[in-house]
Amino acid sequence: MEFAEVVRRRRMIRHFTDEPVAPEVVDRLLAAALRAPSAGFSQGWAFLVLTDDEDRARFWPFVPTRVEQTPTMQLAPVVIVPLAHKATYLERYAEPDKGWEDRAEARWPAPYWFIDTGMASLLILLTAVDEGLDACFFGIQPDQLAPFRAEFGIPDDYAPLGGITVGHRAPDTPAQPAAVDERRRGAESVVHRGQFGVHG
Ligand SMILES: Cc1cc2nc3c(=O)[nH]c(=O)nc-3n(C[C@H](O)[C@H](O)[C@H](O)COP(=O)(O)O)c2cc1C
Repeated sequence: MEFAEVVRRRRMIRHFTDEPVAPEVVDRLLAAALRAPSAGFSQGWAFLVLTDDEDRARFWPFVPTRVEQTPTMQLAPVVIVPLAHKATYLERYAEPDKGWEDRAEARWPAPYWFIDTGMASLLILLTAVDEGLDACFFGIQPDQLAPFRAEFGIPDDYAPLGGITVGHRAPDTPAQPAAVDERRRGAESVVHRGQFGVHG
């Protein structure tokens, strides 16, 4: 698929069938994630991959909103939870070529561990579309994080960003409300040319 077509087609799809996704496709989703850029080439990320029915059944109780509002989301045969690992960045930037030996978080212009893991997540979303599949990134609410971590043995220093479902879109998926496209902000309001506030 043409790259522009992949970008155009990518939508957050919340209704899936239970049609399986081949293991090699899951491997390609993850391989794409590992091609993401990362600050200092730190690669401070990890991915919890849930493809067994039993494992996904253990996962969904931690996302009650999605279960209640979009129950067919649970049919997606693949759930990937991207995890950001801040300590990897602090250690990497304490190395001689970076020199931030104090490991002070105040030095960071932005939390690159979240940015990089987010970039990896986007590559998963785009690769899903390229594979003829659909996907959705969704949040795990703060009150669910501790029990979710406990259930899956996620160490405290790995921060879950959310979940990504990947699968085959349900044939009766409700059309994306026109309001989504109407609300998509245009270049005239968010692109500033040469000076902030200049949109022409
Ligand atoms: C960081 C992030 C968190 C999101 N959280 C949720 C969520 O918890 N539930 C959900 O249904 N969609 C979630 N979305 C999807 C957005 O609602 C969606 O991207 C937006 O409405 C634009 O629609 P589109 O991606 O289909 O173009 C999230 C997207 C991002 C990038």
